[in-house]
Amino acid sequence: MSFSLYLLKGQKALVTGGSSGIGEAIVRALAKAGASVAINYHSHPENADNILDDIKADKGEAIAIQADVSKEDEVQAMFSQMYKQFGTIDILVNNAGLQKDAPFLEMTLQQWNTVIGINLTGYFLCAREAAKEFVRRGVKPDISSAAGKIIFISSVHEVIPWAGHVNYAASKGGINMMMRSIAQELAPQKIRVNSIAPGAIKTDINKSAWSTPEAEAKLLTLIPQKRVGEPEDIGKVAAWLASDDSDYINGATIFVDGGMTLYPGFATGG
Ligand code: BGC
Repeated sequence: MSFSLYLLKGQKALVTGGSSGIGEAIVRALAKAGASVAINYHSHPENADNILDDIKADKGEAIAIQADVSKEDEVQAMFSQMYKQFGTIDILVNNAGLQKDAPFLEMTLQQWNTVIGINLTGYFLCAREAAKEFVRRGVKPDISSAAGKIIFISSVHEVIPWAGHVNYAASKGGINMMMRSIAQELAPQKIRVNSIAPGAIKTDINKSAWSTPEAEAKLLTLIPQKRVGEPEDIGKVAAWLASDDSDYINGATIFVDGGMTLYPGFATGG
């Protein structure tokens, strides 16, 4: 990895949905940059444990915490556990998210509520808890020039409409205004709030879109850079965005998408 080692030394981070996919890559990147990392998972402790073992073998510090981020009491219990073990929080990465796809006319209220509950309400609940601690503690200049950093993992679908995924696209569009409104409100307290909007990244959530050569060829027509992203592409940006090297960035969305948001259909027409 190219960013300097120990950029996040002494900092305590929580990554929701940190036991697989993009979340796992973020956990590993933050740990590599010197942060102590709490890995939140919902239902696969064995994945979280494997990551813990790797981080500890690398002389890093990590813990795993089970919680459903859409439930207020579980989120509060997760933060309490983190404070008990790590004392405080410096970096929150709101990452836990899912898709429940359906044609709009067939989309059930349950599919809608599940996606909004985790992708949007979950981000709200975790951001609010972290922000309370940032405000309570304030800036510790030997740790970071910010009182705290919140990173929202959004999606290109915060700007690209997505037929068949109305619940998901609505949750990601909502994240954009939640992130910017919190950033506006908390910037005076030296809290930085930003988003990373990944494009197509090779994880289980979109496996059918890249796991066969035919599917991948079709997907690449949407990506000017002609490469499907890897989870590490996001991990590296998250570590940098959590560090003081990005100290003047606040309320921004960084698209990490190989150009997917550049309207590739217009490359030769229009
Ligand atoms: C979705 C993926 C999709 C990608 C690009 C992501 O937010 O979770 O399923 O491949 O956007 O469309």
